[in-house]
Formats: sequence, structure tokens, C-alpha cells
Amino acid sequence: MPKPIKNFIAGNWSDAVDGIRFTSRNPADNRDLVAEAPLSSRADVDRAVAAARAAFPEWRLLPAPRRGEILFRAGGLLIKNKQRLGELVTREMGKILAEGLGDVQEAIDIAFYMGGEGRRLQGETVPSELPDKDCKSVREPLGVVALVTPWNFPIAIPAWKLFAALICGNSVILKPSSETPACAAALVAILEEAGIPPGVVNFVCGPGEEVGEYLLSHPGVDAASFTGSCTAGEHLERLLAPLHRPLALEMGGKNAIIVMDDADLELALEGALWGGFGTSGQRCTAASRLIVHEMVYDRFTSLLAERAERLRLGNGLYGETEVGPLINETQGQKVLDYIAIGTEEGARLVTGGIRPEGAHLAHGFFIAPTVLGNVTPAMRVAREEIFGPVVSVISCAALDEAVAIANGVRFGLSTSIYSRDVNNCARAERDLASGIVYINASTIGAEVQLPFGGWRHSGSGHPEAGGRGGAIDFFTRVKVIYRDYSGRLQKAQIDK
Ligand code: UN1
Repeated sequence: MPKPIKNFIAGNWSDAVDGIRFTSRNPADNRDLVAEAPLSSRADVDRAVAAARAAFPEWRLLPAPRRGEILFRAGGLLIKNKQRLGELVTREMGKILAEGLGDVQEAIDIAFYMGGEGRRLQGETVPSELPDKDCKSVREPLGVVALVTPWNFPIAIPAWKLFAALICGNSVILKPSSETPACAAALVAILEEAGIPPGVVNFVCGPGEEVGEYLLSHPGVDAASFTGSCTAGEHLERLLAPLHRPLALEMGGKNAIIVMDDADLELALEGALWGGFGTSGQRCTAASRLIVHEMVYDRFTSLLAERAERLRLGNGLYGETEVGPLINETQGQKVLDYIAIGTEEGARLVTGGIRPEGAHLAHGFFIAPTVLGNVTPAMRVAREEIFGPVVSVISCAALDEAVAIANGVRFGLSTSIYSRDVNNCARAERDLASGIVYINASTIGAEVQLPFGGWRHSGSGHPEAGGRGGAIDFFTRVKVIYRDYSGRLQKAQIDK
């Protein structure tokens, strides 16, 4: 039996007030109990919010470079524990170990990036209209921020939000997905070891509808950041609108890779496989649509199917595994339902579409990498996020048509084009309507020093991660300061 994980409130690890727990299991082998975690209730959230409120005034005034030092220490500890944490990601979430280690690496990268931001956090200094007067803007923290995170990047996404919120001087409450409480607890323990003061980071486990919603809309919370499904995000948008608090939403995607007839097909195949089936397609950036030029459509589709069939499924902890399981039965069933919807709509099941057999696959929900051919843009499988190892191949006759198809969905997160023609690439770069565009690379693998986020229904508020317009802009608010040292009421001011 694993040691039960606990909530972390005001610097103490504690059980839920009600003393009830839920379990998290290995999706590749549901006999493997990964953790027991507190099934918190509103009373636990109230305690966590009170602790964050109490810690905020002192944390806000700690110089940002000092806050950065704590993040640097956390980054060092993440490096030291990378293997152990990567294995935990794989065991609790199911992605293959190389990706589990990548999840931790993203947390390391953002720790050092945000630690360094402690010495920047720039505002503006501009000249005044008047003599003997200064004009500047400074960034201030928002206060207490509530963070609700998903299971697909169980260390990276909590780290993106936590480290950005903290460097800006906010105190936080983190509520992770109930699929991956142990990963989030391990990250919080790293922050504790790095010396985060009590109450600055609080951690509460529990169901999204009950605990997550209550937390995000809590009167003691100043801002909310959520990554998860579109359904949940759009519900939160309506729920929180009257509260008038900054809200960042990262939701779904229906990301496309455009493959032109002049593309390096080998490279494009690699990108399509990695983008479509990496993390079993459970990424908001997954390449779930391939828009392929008619001249290479048949060849590309059959090569893709051939490669997809060769991918080895299994427990991600074993080195030979290339594709892990779906997170749980409900998600797996939803994916199978979508495949059926696709074939009913007239798509051709080129490969996959089944739960493969084998003793090593018997205790998880595995789905064979699936390729749907003859898909048209109007089909549901070409418009709705599936979040599983399913790619829809759509034919196009020209670049403009491909771009129109790519842009013709309600999402706009990540899009890619493979072409050797520099003019095609430049036009696609200009015209693709999404937050992220890749040229001759797949739709996944964003780096932390630039904003990460989508347009339209993929997200709102502010993107995550670094760069101008990224998380620092979300987790701070601007104060403008005019300082007059003339010692008199200046005439020009009266005219304003
Ligand atoms: C997500 O799928 O929710 O660019 C985040 C990527 C990763 C992050 C994905 N760095 O695919």
C-alpha cells in the first residue's frame, strides 16, 4: 500500500476534514494502486484560501529576485529527482517514460525561466508632458490565485502555473486533476523543500465539480486559471463572469498538419505519427487532422497506416513501448464512440479502431493507433476534439484550401505545415489562425520562453508560459504612477 498523500495547507500536510480518500491507479495496469488522496470538501478549500490570504502580504513584499531564488532551488531539486518523478508521471498518467521525463523537463525549464524573471518583471518608464514629473507603470501581483490543472501534463502544467504565479508575488491554491494527485503532490513537496514559506503554496485534492468549482469561484480568491476540457472551461466562463476576476482558460484543440505535395514526406510522416499518437493523442496540441495534398494523399495515408501499425503499445515504463494507454475507461469509450461516429459519417477506417489484445494490455484501456481516411471537413471527427490516438486524413487541392480547412474549426491552438516551398511556408505562417504555428515540425513541443495558448475556443484570458503576453501578464496587474516633484500645482494639469 502506498503512503496516502495529503493536502498541503499553511505549510502542513493534512488529511481532508472529512477524512475520506479516493484512489489513483496506473492506467496501464489498473491493479497497481498509485496513491490514495484526500477527497476534500468545501471546508478544506476554505482553510486553504484562508492560509493563502494570510501568507500573501509578506510574500508580495519579498523582493522578486528572492522569490526567484526559491524557484531556482526548486529547479535544482527537480533535476535531482527527474528520474523518480518521470517514472511517477508514467505510472500515474500512462504516457511513456521518455514523455514522463519530458514532462518533468518542462517543469525544470519553467522553474529556471521564471526564476530569472524575478530580475526582470519590467514595467515602463516614459517621459511626462510636464517638467519635474515622472511617469511609470509597475507590475503588482493579483493576490490569491486558484489553479486547476489537468492530468495530461501532471507535473508540467501545474509547474507552468505555479512558478509564474509565484514569481509575480501571488499566493496560490492548486487543485490537480483527480487522475494525477500524486504527481502534483510531488511537485508541491519540491517547493516545500526549496523553502517556500508556509501558506504561499496550498494544495487541495478533490473532484472538479465540487472542489475545483468552489475554489475557482471562492470569494477569497482574486484570480483563477484553469486548463482542461472545453465543456468545463466554457461552464467556468459563465459561472465566473459575474465575479469579474481575471480568468485564464486553456482548453481544447483540433490541430492540423498540412502536408503539401512538395513536402519531405519522411519528415511529415514522423511529425504526423508523433503529433497524432504521442501521449496517445491526449494533448491539447495533438495533431488530430492531417490535411494532405491530393497528389500525395494515397501514398501518405498508406505509409502512415503502415507505420501506425508498427507502434508498440504497452506499459510506458518499459523501454520498448511507444504508445501508452488512455487515461481511463470513460475516455477510452469516448474515443471508440468517435471512431464509430466517423465511420458512420462515411470515413474509411484505414487502420486501428480496436482495443488490441494481449496479456500485457489486459489491465488498461489501450486503443490501436487509428487512421481515418476520406474524411471531409464537415464530419464531426474533423471538427470535434477526440483526445485519443485517432487522426483524420482530409484531402486538399491547394494551399489556400488547406489553410481554409485548417482554420474552419472553432479551435485555434497549434497548426503546422510541411512544405519545401518557402512561399507556401510564409503564406501559411501568415494566414493560419492559431496561437502556435509550426513550419516543418509537428504541432507539439512548445518551448517555455514564449507564450503558449490558443485562439477562439481553445482558450481565453492569457496564454501560459513565458514571453510577452504570456503568464507574467496574466498573473500581474499594472499600476501607473505619476510622481510630481515640482512642488506646485502645474498649470497644464488644470487643463486636463
Ligand atoms: C497540453 O497538451 O495541454 O507543446 C500542453 C506541447 C507541450 C504542452 C502541451 N509542450 O505539446
